[in-house]
Amino acid sequence: MKLFDVYPLYDVTPVSAQGIEVIDENGQTYFDFYGGHAVISIGHSHPHYINRMTEQLEKMAFYSNSIKNPLQVELGKKLGALSNCEDYQLFLCSSGAEANENALKMASFHTNKAKVIAFKNSFHGRTSAAVATTDNPKISAPLNRQQLVDFVPLNDFEAFEKTISNCTHCAVILEAIQGVGGLDQPTTDFYQFVAQKCQEHKVVLIADEVQSGFGRSGQFFAFQHHGVQPDIISIAKGMGNGFPVGGVLIHNQFEPWYGQLGTTFGGNHLACVATLAVLEVLENENLIENAAQLEDYFREKASKVSKIKRVKGCGLMLGLEFDFEVSELRKNLIYRQHMFTGGSANKKVLRFLPALNITKTQIDLFFEGLGQELSKMSSPKASKPVP
Ligand SMILES: Cc1ncc(COP(=O)(O)O)c(C=O)c1O
Repeated sequence: MKLFDVYPLYDVTPVSAQGIEVIDENGQTYFDFYGGHAVISIGHSHPHYINRMTEQLEKMAFYSNSIKNPLQVELGKKLGALSNCEDYQLFLCSSGAEANENALKMASFHTNKAKVIAFKNSFHGRTSAAVATTDNPKISAPLNRQQLVDFVPLNDFEAFEKTISNCTHCAVILEAIQGVGGLDQPTTDFYQFVAQKCQEHKVVLIADEVQSGFGRSGQFFAFQHHGVQPDIISIAKGMGNGFPVGGVLIHNQFEPWYGQLGTTFGGNHLACVATLAVLEVLENENLIENAAQLEDYFREKASKVSKIKRVKGCGLMLGLEFDFEVSELRKNLIYRQHMFTGGSANKKVLRFLPALNITKTQIDLFFEGLGQELSKMSSPKASKPVP
C-alpha cells in the first residue's frame, strides 16, 4: 500500500536523536532548531524521559478510561501546581485538534450556543470545529463550513466589540502567540479587553496553548504574560516530548456529567508518564527560566544581522522576519548547514522552536549557519543552488 501523499518531504531520513541533534541514516548530524514542530520540549531522548517511559512500559502501557488510573490524578496535581492553574479540572486526550474540539464543545454545552469568534491567521487544528475556527479555507471541507465562525482581525478592538455584542457566541478562541500564522501576538490591552468582554457577554474564553504552552513562551502558559484568566486552556505538543498527548484545562465553574466528554486513548498510562517526565524535567532543570533568558540572548544575536527585519514571538517560540520569502533559505539551511527550522503562513518568517534546554553555544551555531547562508544569498555567484 502506498502512502496517502499529503506531506511535501525534505530528503532526510533521521534514525536517531539526542538533545537537539538528529542523526540521519548516513550518519550526518542535523541541529534541530524546529523541535519537530514545537513538540520536543526537553530534548530528544532525554535520559529521565527514557527511564520513566521504559519503567512504565515494562509495567503497563495502556488501559481504557473505565478503570482508576492514579497516574492521571498525579498528573493533574503536578500540572496544576507547576502551571499555577489549580482552579481547573483536567481532561486528557491525544492531540491539539482534539483538545480544541473538546474545548469548543464544552463552551457550547455551557452556553447552549453554537457560534465562535476566532482570529485572522489563526490555526487550531484539522478536526471539525477546530478547522472551522482555523483561518485557512483551503483545509476546510464543505462539511466543516457548516460551523458558525466569525473571524476578527487580531488587536482590532472595535471589530471585536462589534462582533461579540451580537450575543450569539459560545466561545472566543485565541492563541497568545500565533504559531502557524507567523508569531503575531495579541497586545496585553487587547487580550485583557477580550477577557473582559467575554465575561460581560458570558462567552467562554478558550486559550489555545497547544503550541505556546508548557514553558515554550518563557512562562508556563503564554496567556500568563498578559494577566488574564481563560475559562478553558487547550494543551498538546510539548506536553509529551513526542508521545501523542493532549489535554483541556477546564475551570472549576464547569460541572461535568458522565459521558459529556470521552476518548479511548486519552490519559493512558504511558501518555501520563510521558507528561509527568516532561514536567519533572521542566522543573528540575529550570527550563522555563532558560526559555525566557535565551530569548534575550537570541534577540541580541539577531540584532546584529542586518537582513533580519524583526524578531517575533517570545521565549523559545520565535520567528525571524525577512523582506524575502524564506522557503529557499530553509532548504539551504537543511541541506548545506544541516539545520532544521520552520516556516509559517507568513512566508517571510523563519521559525525557531528548539527544545527548551538549548544552550547559548547552540544558538551561536544557528546564527553562524544562518549568517553563512545569508551572505551567499547576497553574492548569487558564490551560491550553488540546492537541487
Ligand atoms: C495553536 C495550535 N493549535 C492546535 C494545533 C493542532 O494540533 P495537532 O496537530 O496536535 O492536532 C496546532 C498545531 O500546529 C497549533 O499550533
